Amino acid sequence: MKVLVIGSGGREHAMAWKLSQSIKVSAIFIAPGNGGTYLNPKFKNIDLTDINLLSDFAIKEKIDLTVVGPELPLSKGIVDLFRFKNLNIFGPTQKAAQLESSKDFAKDFMYRHNIPTAKYRTFKMPDEAHQYIAEHGAPIVIKADGLASGKGVIVAMTVEEAHEAIDFMLVDNKFGDAGAKVVIEEFLEGEEASFMVVCDGKTILPLATSQDHKRLLDHDMGPNTGGMGAYSPAPIVTNEIYSKVMEEIISPTIYGMAKDGIPFTGFLYAGLMITKKGDVKTLEFNCRMGDPETQPILMRLKSDLFEMLYKAALGHLDSLEIEWDTRTALAVVLASAGYPESPRLNDEIHIEDRIIPDSYIFHAGTVYKDNKLLTSGGRVLAVTALGNSVKEAQFKAYEAINTVKFNGVQYRKDIGYRALNNN
Ligand SMILES: Nc1ncnc2c1ncn2[C@@H]1O[C@H](COP(=O)(O)OP(=O)(O)O)[C@@H](O)[C@H]1O
Ligand SMILES: [Mg+2]
Repeated sequence: MKVLVIGSGGREHAMAWKLSQSIKVSAIFIAPGNGGTYLNPKFKNIDLTDINLLSDFAIKEKIDLTVVGPELPLSKGIVDLFRFKNLNIFGPTQKAAQLESSKDFAKDFMYRHNIPTAKYRTFKMPDEAHQYIAEHGAPIVIKADGLASGKGVIVAMTVEEAHEAIDFMLVDNKFGDAGAKVVIEEFLEGEEASFMVVCDGKTILPLATSQDHKRLLDHDMGPNTGGMGAYSPAPIVTNEIYSKVMEEIISPTIYGMAKDGIPFTGFLYAGLMITKKGDVKTLEFNCRMGDPETQPILMRLKSDLFEMLYKAALGHLDSLEIEWDTRTALAVVLASAGYPESPRLNDEIHIEDRIIPDSYIFHAGTVYKDNKLLTSGGRVLAVTALGNSVKEAQFKAYEAINTVKFNGVQYRKDIGYRALNNN
């Protein structure tokens, strides 16, 4: 079977890596891929991002399954287009992807289906938004409605910051259409975790639990990033929390979408806030796997990822059981100088041949040019390792990092500390 993976990040490298372990898979194309997938003879990078050109490519190459990594092509309707052309693809339709591409859609959906989430109101008019903030005070959270590459949320600790965020989005239109509407929501306190499932429209297959670190610096300080590290499982998701999430969030979402006439096929990711009392609220939905959570999750997956996604795309997930490595997997992201504000590009990356057992280096912002591996983005690599405990996985991941060198590298030294505290 021939597979096409859409995307270029660490998540897509990990998907391709796992798909390549299936005996059913004979070829893997990645569009556009990165330096790491380019250098691996098992994969072929395809320099395309336009969804029409991708569908032409899939027809020409007789691709048996296309897997979509990032949200952008989903929000542009890549799944609708491929299905229209009778191509087999795993992911949500453009309408279903609104759970991620419109925060207002997601909040309205959650309210209608009684799914726990922060109280909110949506605004288009700056005056009304300012007035609401004046009435509710701080802390308060301002969210651009549309996709904003992880930069559209401002957790305002003061009223001034909240007003500024409104002007930024509704008056100065700094996010364009994505910020033409804003969701203002109640500030929630607790610990965050990620919960991902695979769905074929009806059947739900939960993936292993995970947690990521969004802040740039140790002890969760510094600016927000796309994610500086992650691990699986997340000890904070106890059996009790797990059942709660399935009953109160995941099942009503999947059934609610089906009931609303928008069946959800794809990866559904619920960003959770878990309070001290053990209540769980939905911070947001993503319609794809998280990055870097995918890297540790897929390192723990023992079952055939191709079979899972192929069956899900065909609506036959009910006949599948999956198996997980009971060990912990932990990923540490190596970012370029200047990340997240203005990542520096074109630093040469050296990776030693020495292999650290049970570890793998997934590429993201890398490119191979003139016989050199260079940085080409903010998050460069995710060094991922398996261990019998969080401590061991952490130790091995940091040992494997010693085999990588590039100028200006930034990485956290404490990935997994919350899991150590929770153990
Ligand atoms: N209601 C809330 N209360 C407290 N923090 C929040 C709230 N909503 C979001 N956040 C914080 O902001 C981050 C980003 O928000 P999220 O809704 O996940 O948007 P996105 O991932 O699209 O940027 C979350 O990971 C969380 O740390
Ligand atoms: Mg988020």
